[in-house]
Amino acid sequence: MFPITWNQDDSHQISIGGIPIRDLAERFGTPLYVMDYATLADRLTRYRAALATLDPPGLPYFAGKAFLCRAMAGLLEDLGIGLDVVSGGELATAVAGGFRPERAIFHGNVKTPEEIAYGLEVGVGLWGVDSLDELEALSRAASHFGTQARVVLRLTPGIEAHTHAFIRTGQFDTKFGLAMSEGIAEEAVARALALPGIQLVGFHAHIGSQILEIAPFLANLERLLSFSRVTLSTHGFWPEILDVGGGLGVRYTAEDDPPALETVVEGMRQVIAEYTPAGMAAPQVLMEPGRSVVAEAGVTLYRVGAIKRVPSGKRYVAVDGGMGDNIRPALYQAAYQAVVDGKAPGADGFVGALAGRYCESGDILIPEARWPADLEVGDLVAVLVTGAYNYAMASNYNRVPRPAVVAVHQGEAKVWVQRERWEDLYRLDGAWERWERGANG
Ligand SMILES: Cc1ncc(COP(=O)(O)O)c(C=O)c1O
Repeated sequence: MFPITWNQDDSHQISIGGIPIRDLAERFGTPLYVMDYATLADRLTRYRAALATLDPPGLPYFAGKAFLCRAMAGLLEDLGIGLDVVSGGELATAVAGGFRPERAIFHGNVKTPEEIAYGLEVGVGLWGVDSLDELEALSRAASHFGTQARVVLRLTPGIEAHTHAFIRTGQFDTKFGLAMSEGIAEEAVARALALPGIQLVGFHAHIGSQILEIAPFLANLERLLSFSRVTLSTHGFWPEILDVGGGLGVRYTAEDDPPALETVVEGMRQVIAEYTPAGMAAPQVLMEPGRSVVAEAGVTLYRVGAIKRVPSGKRYVAVDGGMGDNIRPALYQAAYQAVVDGKAPGADGFVGALAGRYCESGDILIPEARWPADLEVGDLVAVLVTGAYNYAMASNYNRVPRPAVVAVHQGEAKVWVQRERWEDLYRLDGAWERWERGANG
């Protein structure tokens, strides 16, 4: 739950990456996204090492949707990790960060013609194709560029992962992918093999996010391999690549107990051995972890702005951020934990909601948090496990600037993303001009 370098001393003062968080807050302001480099590097290298034990060696493709900025892309390039992008914007950010697109996979259920052209132009290594329409469009564009796009077809295996409905994607009734039923996926295979601009190399299925059991991951791989056995007999096609997506859960609170990555990979090794037909080469496994790489590396710092009691006796602790920098509690009741810097909750503490500053009653980050009795306005609050889908989903609601992202390591802090200023909020606005033929002219 805590970043690797998290430390709380005898006086309850917190430091991350060897820097007291009160120094970070003073230097960079609040709210502030803090990223622990040691945790990031640990998770990425662990994925790389675990997948390398497969034969042929598998590869992690970090899911940029969880957290992406130029520095993150540069880190991935440095460590030899791949990247899953879902938009031209993510790809452009990666390229600007020095990431080589040969190791990118371009996913997403709608890719605009401009995005397809851009991906082909910069040489995206792999395309995750979501529909027959996209297959046709990609083939046409690739032929126009005088090339073939290497494609994995996104399939839905019909697996209901036990996670929140909004982050569940493996069932047949979903906007994502092509169903492995009623011949839908088989039709796509036939089309992919026939189209001149497409080089079909394998299949992909992502079943959901924040999954805390091993079984759905193994079932997913089993379905992909079973489907591959069908295409081997019907079309003579056996995949070179099977991309099993992301989805491994993390510990947001003490109740969450995700399986170890190594155990999942060990299970996958057995499934591959069991389902690969004699005489065929085992496919290369790709994984696309997002949350399980970045979530625990991130901590958000806030300052307490107000503490109040309502007639029922309930208390609200309001901070200077909220749903603009972390939409997940409002979006799908995501649970978080908070720790106050320099103060212990103690037996005389109180329970109260951690509320944000935004103009929505639903802007509650934690409905029932434990607070120290001597909590005061100005105290610094650290909310844990905010590295994934926080900065990435941040908005300017209420015209509040988005916080900075600061990476910390061994006493050194680097700004990965600057804090927005008020000027940035209206930088792209046009000015008011009267209508030539308007009622007010
Ligand atoms: C295709 C695909 N791959 C990978 C991921 C990353 O999932 P997670 O952050 O749960 O690992 C997602 C998340 O939505 C996804 O849609």
